[in-house]
Amino acid sequence: MPVEDIIDRGERSGLVRSLTGKDLIGFGIGIIIGTGVFTLAGIQAKEHAGPGVVLSFVIGGIVAALAALCYAELSSAVPTAGSAYTYGYATLGELFAWIIGWDLLLEFALGAAVVSRSWSGYVSNLLGLPSEWFGEDATVNVGAILIIAVLTVIAVIGIRESSWVTNALVVVKVSVCVLVIVAGLFFFNGAHLDPFIPPAQPATETASALEQPLVQALLGMEQSMYGIGGVFTAAAIVFFAYTGFEALANLGEETKRPKRDLPVGLLGSLIVCTVLYVLVAIVLSAMVDYRQIDEGAPLAAAFQSVGQPWVAALIALGAVTGLTSVMMVELVTIGRIGFAMSRDGLLPPKLSQVHPKWGTPHRMTIGGAVLIMLMAGFIPISELADMVSIGALSGFVIVSLAVPVLRRRKPELARPFRVPLSPVLPILSALACLYLMANLDIITWLRFAAWLALGLVIYFAYGHRNARLAKATSDAAKE
Ligand code: ALA
Repeated sequence: MPVEDIIDRGERSGLVRSLTGKDLIGFGIGIIIGTGVFTLAGIQAKEHAGPGVVLSFVIGGIVAALAALCYAELSSAVPTAGSAYTYGYATLGELFAWIIGWDLLLEFALGAAVVSRSWSGYVSNLLGLPSEWFGEDATVNVGAILIIAVLTVIAVIGIRESSWVTNALVVVKVSVCVLVIVAGLFFFNGAHLDPFIPPAQPATETASALEQPLVQALLGMEQSMYGIGGVFTAAAIVFFAYTGFEALANLGEETKRPKRDLPVGLLGSLIVCTVLYVLVAIVLSAMVDYRQIDEGAPLAAAFQSVGQPWVAALIALGAVTGLTSVMMVELVTIGRIGFAMSRDGLLPPKLSQVHPKWGTPHRMTIGGAVLIMLMAGFIPISELADMVSIGALSGFVIVSLAVPVLRRRKPELARPFRVPLSPVLPILSALACLYLMANLDIITWLRFAAWLALGLVIYFAYGHRNARLAKATSDAAKE
């Protein structure tokens, strides 16, 4: 589809333009800060990186910033509700567009599932609820399923309500991070930071060969934990903490001045989050010996362990509310991406029907929510989070490559924001994302391949034949 048509359609889409740059930063922080820092930071310090998890967050932040620059250029030049999916359509063609859209659905649906489980863990820590129903060992995680059901109702009722709920929760979430950093400084024990990167050691006997990072297997290395390799493995997994910023690019048709505000929102929210993450990771590593970190509610438990139950309770309360906003934005985003894909004929048209009273893509939102509840009920956090990282990173590879492709194809297009040093930076961004992906384990790659294969089957069985692009081409041929 020509870029001009996408821009034109965005201008006529009928979605209300009410958001400003500040709202976008709010939305961005709303979706970025979540399980990544509240739960995964602790798990990864314990399992892969030790205090070196601080470096993992720095690496993740740099890779995310490179990708955000590419998003900023594309979203300011082509503001649209479909974001990466639509840029893929405009630059690399329908098949790539489908792959990105399918990938994004995976990322946001699994992301919401991870966050709902982490939410459930903190609720159980706060209220002393039974971990058989709310913890990571639960056979069916009832807490995770319930919270998704409640938020789906809000997401269906309307975007204004969603935006209001999000903004209120962002304040709580940022306050929790600041509380952890400031209160944690009083319990800073430098001895816990030494060694900063624990020496590499052979993986435990229970680790299966499929749990080895792909890059280690490709280089024929022994399966190991910690060391520099562990820092990169943790970076690939905590990359989850940065995912979500790209959801802002989906709000191009609802932003007042998208060309200026989208780059501000994307880069602004990412910078705030990176600084908070790195500081929280330093404080957590200095408060607790990494081998003793609690995997259910690491930040709250760190304060319990230094005899500060009140701070711990405040943090758990903040985490519970803060995580709610992440799920809220993820549900809203799934609705928008599905809406864009269905509008183009790649998914059944019924999915893009907007609810007559509430004006939201309710069918897509509810369908996505059912899938999320099924996964959240039964699959552990760490397995789900790896899949989110690989899904997000592979989408970023395509978005990064789309920048130089679009520059070559449409040099005259107005680009209010330009990635510096293109094509060097976009190519670097694609390579950095690929490298992080290679640090995820083999089983994650196999699951991801299965998801893509399923997507391709659906594409060739349905989307390919129904896509408007295909229709338009064959109509034109008939004339
Ligand atoms: N970035 C979001 C989180 O950390 C998805 O929970």
